[in-house]
Parts: sequence; structure tokens; C-alpha cells
Amino acid sequence: MSGLSAALLQALHAVVGDAGLITDAERMRSYLSDWRNAYQGRAAMVLRPASSEEVAAVVRLCHEAGVAIVPQGGNTGLCGGSIPDASGTQVVLSLTRMARIRAVDIGNETITVEAGVILQRLQEAAAEVGRLFPLSLGAEGSCTVGGNLATNAGGTAVLRYGNMRDLVLGLEVVLPDGRIWNGLRGLRKDNTGYDLKQLFIGAEGTLGIITAAVLKLFPAVRSLTTAWVALPSPQAAVELIGQMRGLCGDRLSGFELMSRQSLEFVLRHVVGCSDPCAEEHPWYVLIELSDTQVDAPLSALLEQGLGEALEHGLILDAVIASSEAQVAALWALREGISEAQNHEGPSLKHDISVPVSSIPAFIDATDRRLLEDFPGVRIVAYGHVGDGNLHYNISKPLGTEDAVFKAQSEAIMRLIYDSTAAFDGSISAEHGLGQAKREAARRYKDPLELELMRSIKQTLDPAGLMNPGKLL
Ligand code: FAD
Ligand code: MLT
Ligand code: ZN
Repeated sequence: MSGLSAALLQALHAVVGDAGLITDAERMRSYLSDWRNAYQGRAAMVLRPASSEEVAAVVRLCHEAGVAIVPQGGNTGLCGGSIPDASGTQVVLSLTRMARIRAVDIGNETITVEAGVILQRLQEAAAEVGRLFPLSLGAEGSCTVGGNLATNAGGTAVLRYGNMRDLVLGLEVVLPDGRIWNGLRGLRKDNTGYDLKQLFIGAEGTLGIITAAVLKLFPAVRSLTTAWVALPSPQAAVELIGQMRGLCGDRLSGFELMSRQSLEFVLRHVVGCSDPCAEEHPWYVLIELSDTQVDAPLSALLEQGLGEALEHGLILDAVIASSEAQVAALWALREGISEAQNHEGPSLKHDISVPVSSIPAFIDATDRRLLEDFPGVRIVAYGHVGDGNLHYNISKPLGTEDAVFKAQSEAIMRLIYDSTAAFDGSISAEHGLGQAKREAARRYKDPLELELMRSIKQTLDPAGLMNPGKLL
């Protein structure tokens, strides 16, 4: 039983048909828990509309009936934003059937896509017309454009191209009362007042449902070189990125930091991976240079940069990939960390940011306090150095009961967030607040900012039916 009135059920069915409505408990299961199984919920039903008009119609019906909606894309989010609460009264609205590429405008360098398009499919569609869509992240085979927009996703190419917010020109959004806002403009300049699309980007589905977007295309990458570099410390990584940027400018398109602990998890759990270096080192970076020119002299540039770094004692060892297979193998070490950490029992995931220059001091201070207060916790630190964004993740100490670690979780998070705040950082740089960091945001975010956010929510969604219990 859905718990909704028979009349509403019938009206929703009339809009989306058999293909767009799931009430069977078994078929709903995959929509009700996240990738890590860290969050579980219940729902009255899952709706899967196939067009913006169908989304608008179901939102209007839910609005009239006072039924709360949880928008969902690929369900790869890491903070429980797409999972309904435990009441069983909310409706999950999945956008995955809205997966059309609506238009490509080569002259304008834009592509217009529906919210349910998988990120990897978008990258392929851009490549098919000789262009690049640069957003890139570990979940790209499953996450959707709508989810990328709603979380303002980051990933490994932000250094060169910016995050999702920087890649958008226009949006189409179904508002909480069911009206469709058509902001699908492909304009690079438009100063006619407030930039409304920015409100919905990073709103985690709390202000409306994104149904389509006009996104920027970039010149295709035609030369690429990748290196795996061992370093003595995060301080060396920060100095190295400064030097490489000075030398390579915008050709520096990737710079990812990983601790030895992160690499060890990957070597242990991801099949086919091996350590590129002969000896163990405390820290590593994965460096990528790219260019739109064919046969650009990137290897020479990389060798020059690494040679200078070696002379200054910034690096301990380096391996430059000499084939596409080696490039893929190096990236597999980086992208395998999330999955590998799942195999090591319960973990606490973080996506904090601090000024890039503060990364070394943040790691130093936080490591020290954590290990004093929670001896044995395994710190899995890695991330996007150029964005000041660290995944300062914690796995439970070996031999500790899951329940004991879970009981310490709040205190561990508090310690990490206090440290982040002490370095003028943010508790969420890319995954969003969802249900995981909602309470913490109240503690660390400026009260005036929270007040302004609440008044925006009140204006757009006075009945509070859009993804309640998330973000705010
Ligand atoms: P979902 O998980 O379905 O939803 C996420 C949020 O967006 C929810 O609040 C949901 O309600 C809302 N939402 C979804 N679709 C819509 C819509 N159409 N309209 C309005 N609201 C909507 N994230 C990064 O930023 N950088 C990374 O490097 C990164 N790496 C990852 C690696 C792995 C292995 C995994 C599992 C996740 C990673 N993520 C990363 C997190 C996740 O992939 C991103 O947050 C992604 O953008 C979520 O997209 P999704 O379609 O799965 O959204
Ligand atoms: C990543 O950069 O790999 C993800 O954002 C981090 C994660 O899965 O925790
Ligand atoms: Zn990340």
C-alpha cells in the first residue's frame, strides 16, 4: 500500500502510466538506499516521469495533496540527499527516464540535455561533435546531469574548467507548485537582474526539480600526458602545484593528492592495481597536462617541471605514463579509493575545503588531534589540491567493533569540522549537505547566510514539500 489516497494514485498513474510508477517494495528497493548503504528510507512510491510536462503534472498533483517529493538522479550522492525519510509518506521522483540530448549548437558551443542524461553519455555526446564536456568524477557512469547540477558537482577537472556551476548557461526547472520555469537560454552574457539559475544549482532539490540544462562545450583534448609523483609531504604538493601552474598555465588539467594509506587501500581491494614506485612513500600526486593541439610537447614540459622539482627536493620519485593503458592504470589508483575504502568497514566521508595554502597545516593539526583523541583511526586523506578540497576520510581502527566506531562518529566529525573552521574552510566543498551535514551546517555557517537561505526556501517552497529534511 502506498499510503496515498486512491484518487491521487489514480491521477499520478494517469500522468506517468505503468512505466513511470513503481509501488512494489522489491522494485523500489534500489531507490531507497544509497551507494554505500549508509542511508535507508521508505517511500509511498517512486515516480519516473518521461518529460518536463509529466514532471510538472506530478509535482502539481503532489503540491495540491501536500505530499513531499525527493528528487533523485543516479543516486550516487554521498550525503543522503536523494534518500527519503523513514515515514513512508514521501514520493521519490526519479529523473532517469528524461535522458534525451535535446540539441547541440556548435556555433554557440553549447549542448542542451535533459536532467536524467548520465554524465558519461554527455561526455560521449560532446566527443561525437569533436568537443569536450569536462566535468569528470568517479561516479560518471551512473550520476546524472540533474544530480551534478543539484549538488554543484566538482571532481578532477575543476582545476582547469571549474565546477558544474561554471559549466551552465541555462536551466529548465519545475517549481514546487508545478509551474515550469523556462530559463533554457544559451547566453554567455545576460545582465537583466538576478541570475535565478544559480539558486537551483547546489540547492540539492530543495527549491525545485531541474529538468533540462544548456551546458558549455569546450575544445577537444588532443594531447595528454600523465605522471604519478611521490612526495615527502602535503607542503611539497602545494609548492609543486604552484610551480607546475607557473610553467604550464592552463595545460595543467589535473592535480590529485593521495596519502600512502589511500593507496594501500586501493592496492588491497581493487583488482589489477599495482604500486607504480619501487619504494613506499608518504604522499603521491597524479598530474595531468592536456592540450587542444595534436602532438603538443607536453612530456617535455612535464619532464622539465619534475626535473626542477627534484632539484628543489620537492619530489622523491616519478613515473610518466607511456601508453594509454598506463594512463588508465594511474587514474584507476586515484578513482579506486572510494570503492576500496568501502571494503574496510564503516567510514566517515568528508569533502572539506580550506585555502590551498592552508592544506599542509590543516592536515598536520587535524591528524595530530585525531590520533590523540581517537588512537588507531585510519586517516584516508586525498583530494583535489588545486581546489583546496580534501576528502579527509576516516576508517575505523583495526580490531574495533563497528558499534564502538559509530558511537565515536559525531565526536570525530566535530573535531574535523572544528579544525576546518579554524582554517576558515567549508564543511562541504563538493558533495553538499544532504542529511549528513545539515545539522553541522547550522553550527558552522553564518546565521545571516542561513536566514537568507531560509527566506529563499520560504519564497519558492512555502509548503516545504521539496526534499524536506535536506540541506536546511
Ligand atoms: P543523486 O545522488 O540522485 O542526488 C543528489 C542530490 O541532488 C539529491 O539531493 C537529490 O535530491 C538532488 N537531485 C538529483 N537530481 C535532481 C534534479 N533533477 N533536480 C533537483 N534535484 C536533484 N561528487 C563530486 O562532486 N566530485 C567527485 O569527485 C565525486 N566522486 C564520486 C565518486 C564516487 C565513487 C561516488 C559514488 C560519488 C562521487 N561523487 C562525487 C558524488 C556524486 O556522484 C555527485 O554528487 C553527483 O553529482 C550526484 O549525481 P546523481 O545523479 O547521482 O544525484
Ligand atoms: C572523489 O573525489 O573521489 C570523491 O569525491 C570522494 C569520495 O568518494 O569520498
Ligand atoms: Zn572529490
